[in-house]
Amino acid sequence: MAISRRTLIGGAALLTAAATLPTGLRALASGRRTLRLETRQIEVDGRPATRYGVVQADGSFGLTLDEGDMLDVRLENHLDVPSGLHWHGMVEPWRQDGVPYLSGPPIEPGQHADYRFPARPTGTRWMHSHFGLQEQNLLAAPLIVREASAIRSGAQEVVILLEDFSWTKPEEILADLRKPKPMAMPASTGQSGGMGAMAAGADLNDVDYDAFLANDRTLDDPDVFDVERGGEVRLRIINAAASSNFTIDLGGPEATLLTVDGSPVEPMIVSRFPIAIAQRVDLLLRMPSDGTAVPVLAHAEGRRLRAGVILKPPGATVARIPAEAETDGPRVTLADEVMLRAAEPLADRPVDRTVPVDLSGTMSGYVWTMPIHGMVGLPAQAVKGERVEITFRNTTMMSHPMHLHGHVFQVVEVDGTRFAGAIRDTVLVTPGKSVTIAFDADNPGIWAFHCHNLYHMAAGMFSTLVYRGFD
Ligand code: C2O
Ligand code: CU
Repeated sequence: MAISRRTLIGGAALLTAAATLPTGLRALASGRRTLRLETRQIEVDGRPATRYGVVQADGSFGLTLDEGDMLDVRLENHLDVPSGLHWHGMVEPWRQDGVPYLSGPPIEPGQHADYRFPARPTGTRWMHSHFGLQEQNLLAAPLIVREASAIRSGAQEVVILLEDFSWTKPEEILADLRKPKPMAMPASTGQSGGMGAMAAGADLNDVDYDAFLANDRTLDDPDVFDVERGGEVRLRIINAAASSNFTIDLGGPEATLLTVDGSPVEPMIVSRFPIAIAQRVDLLLRMPSDGTAVPVLAHAEGRRLRAGVILKPPGATVARIPAEAETDGPRVTLADEVMLRAAEPLADRPVDRTVPVDLSGTMSGYVWTMPIHGMVGLPAQAVKGERVEITFRNTTMMSHPMHLHGHVFQVVEVDGTRFAGAIRDTVLVTPGKSVTIAFDADNPGIWAFHCHNLYHMAAGMFSTLVYRGFD
C-alpha cells in the first residue's frame, strides 16, 4: 500500500508546543503510536455485522495516555473511503482537530496523517470520525488521558463505550428522516413500530435502533470485567452513540461521581446518572464486600432497550440481564446538571462578549438550524483573550447536545438561574430550556460548533466559532 507523507504541523509549531509544557511532566516520553481506521466484524444478536473501527497495531482499542504525555499519532486510513478522526474534548491546535474540510482535508484511502500535541486536558475523552455519517458505523473509540491522581490511586479502571446500532444503513436512516411526514406524526422513523417513542412522547428519539452496545456487545453477551471483591473501580463511561441519550444505572450500589466530560466536579453520590450524546461520566465504585457482581447498565432514553457491562469479583455468579427492560429509559433532563459544581471553576471575570444561539428546526422535511444572533450561517466569533458567554435557547421539541471544539466551557446558567456548574465540552439543552456556557477564548482558530446528534448535525445544526484576526 502506498502511504503518503503528509505532516500537519511544521517543526516550528512543534517547538512551540513543547515549550509551553510545564517542566517536570514527561512530555516527550511517549513515542508515536499508530492508529488504524479499518473495518471489523462484530456480532449483534447472533448476527455478524461489518462496521468501522479504530485500533492500534497491537489490536488495542483507542488510545490511553498519561497526564503530561504528548498525543503523538500516525493515523492510517485502511478504509476504502475518505475518513479521519476528531479528538473530542481536546484543546489541540485547530489544524489538528480532524474535522474534514474545516481543520484540514480528509485522509484518503491508503494515506495517513500525523498528529502531535500535548494531550490536554486530562480525563475521559474520545475520538470519532467527523466525516459524513461514519460515526453511526461505529467509527469511534476511547481517548483516555489518565489523571496523575487516578494513576496514583491505584484503582482499577474500566472503560465503557456506549453506542447505538441499526441494521439499516446510516444514509437510509437519514433519507427516511427527511421524507415528508404528516404534521401530526411524531418524528420517528417507525421502522419497527417505534413503541418506545410512542409511549414516552414523540420527541425523545428520531431513530428506532435495533440494539445498544457497550464495548461493541449487547447484554446477551456482555463484556465481563474481573474485579476484586470489595475493590475500588473507576468507571470511565463514554456516550459514543450517534443519536441516543442514556441513563447509567448501577441498580442499587452507589458510586462517587468524579468527572463529567473528563473534568472534575465536586464529588456527588449517585446510583443513576444521565449521559447525553458525546458526554462522559467517571464514577468511582466500591465493589460490595459480599463479593456479588455489579452490572453497569445504560438505559436508552425513551426506549426499552439497554446496554451494559458486568463487574465480576472472583467466584461471583453472573445473572443474565435481558437487554429489554420492563420500562422505557427515563427522559434525560437538566435536573442533575443544575446540581453539578465544577471542582476547578473558571476564574471570576467580566464577560466581554455574549452570543445568542437559537436551536431551531422543522420536523416536516427534517431541517435543523442554529441561527447565531438570529442569522443562519453566521459563525460565532471571538477575539483571543475574551471571556465569552453563549446562550442556547431551545425552541424545538427535541434535546440538543451542543458541542464546541477546541475549548472546555463552564455551564453557568439554566433558565435564568446562575450557578458555578460543571466544566464540559458538550451540554444538553432540553426542549424549552435556555442554557448559558462561559469560556475563555484562548485557542485561536476556526472551530466546529454543533449539535452532536449526528442526524441533527447532518441536517444543518452545525456552525463554527471563528477567532477574529488570528494567524
Ligand atoms: Cu465529538 Cu464535532 O465532535
Ligand atoms: Cu440536535
